[in-house]
Amino acid sequence: NAASKGTYEFYMLKEIDEQPGVMRRLSQDYLDENGEPLVDQKIVDAVANADRIYIFAAGTSYHAGLVGKDLFEKYTGIPTEVGYASEAGYHFPIMSKRPLFIFLSQSGETADSRVVLKEANKRGITSLTMTNVEGSTLSREADFTMLLKAGPEIAVASTKAYTAQIALQAILAKAVGEKLANQDAKDFDLKHQLALAAEGIQEIVDGKERFAELAKKYLIASRNAFYIGRGIDHAVALEGALKLKEVSYIQTEGFAAAELKHGTISLIEDGTPVIALINDPVTADLTRGNIQEVTSRGASVITIVGKQFAKENDDVVLPDLNYYLSPLLTVVPTQLLAYYASKEKGLDVDKPRNLAKSVTVE
Ligand code: G6P
Repeated sequence: NAASKGTYEFYMLKEIDEQPGVMRRLSQDYLDENGEPLVDQKIVDAVANADRIYIFAAGTSYHAGLVGKDLFEKYTGIPTEVGYASEAGYHFPIMSKRPLFIFLSQSGETADSRVVLKEANKRGITSLTMTNVEGSTLSREADFTMLLKAGPEIAVASTKAYTAQIALQAILAKAVGEKLANQDAKDFDLKHQLALAAEGIQEIVDGKERFAELAKKYLIASRNAFYIGRGIDHAVALEGALKLKEVSYIQTEGFAAAELKHGTISLIEDGTPVIALINDPVTADLTRGNIQEVTSRGASVITIVGKQFAKENDDVVLPDLNYYLSPLLTVVPTQLLAYYASKEKGLDVDKPRNLAKSVTVE
């Protein structure tokens, strides 16, 4: 039974561990043996016809949308915006001539997103919902649906739905980009990359004890913490921070690495945990400089770094993966750090206080 905890103490760890399987399933179901996307032609045509993509979501799904923006812009060339559904519903963005809306929602029931979709339908804007729940409200009310196929996600803190949303957006971006004759999309060896992602996640979760140690050593006694990263790592920094704070109650902020020095660095004290993410070839060295800035103010830095950028003293080295898909790997240590921080503090990992799995009020 997919929804049973089995030998796991908490669903969250089970769901983290399931991510390699989710990557393989998405590859199998949405890519043919030659790696060509198997996406409903009507969906591909609708997105390819758009002059702008607007992604709306909440919480962790919003953070997956930030990665989606980079994927869509890289592989389709279509300008893409990402917005909080809760904001867009009452402050509708100025529309391009041929907009296409994508709703990302694990549950497919988030009220904030439904408000935007209702308005889109009123205005005749074409919409696609990516959701984990077949027949959910957002999927029924949108023109098109794609399923995340992550299996039931029970823990309130979302993990496997996030990585599934990234992989599925990559598949759609490749399909649409190929239709638009985008060379990067044609060259995007997604089947191979998703296989590498599955292997890489497996490698990380196989070494999960490391994250229990790091959480114990650096996080659980701390009142606050920071995630920093640039480029696509900034998006993961926001998600890593949300995950840690929601399950461990350690107040955590995610920052564009260089922005800390413009104010927030005043919060760095002796022992403040700063978790730095490095996968962006363009800014890797600059982020190292930002690490120096916080280290010299006493921060305890944990580095999570792609193999090609790794230096001797890095804490966590990630296997190689395409930059645009690197969040599939980078996020996993952040999920594990959050999980172990919560568990070591003796909290109810799966049901943090004040939170609900799906929020059906605005
Ligand atoms: C709730 C959950 C979050 C989730 C957000 C969006 O706040 O606690 O984990 O990311 O809703 O949910 P959705 O189902 O739309 O992805």
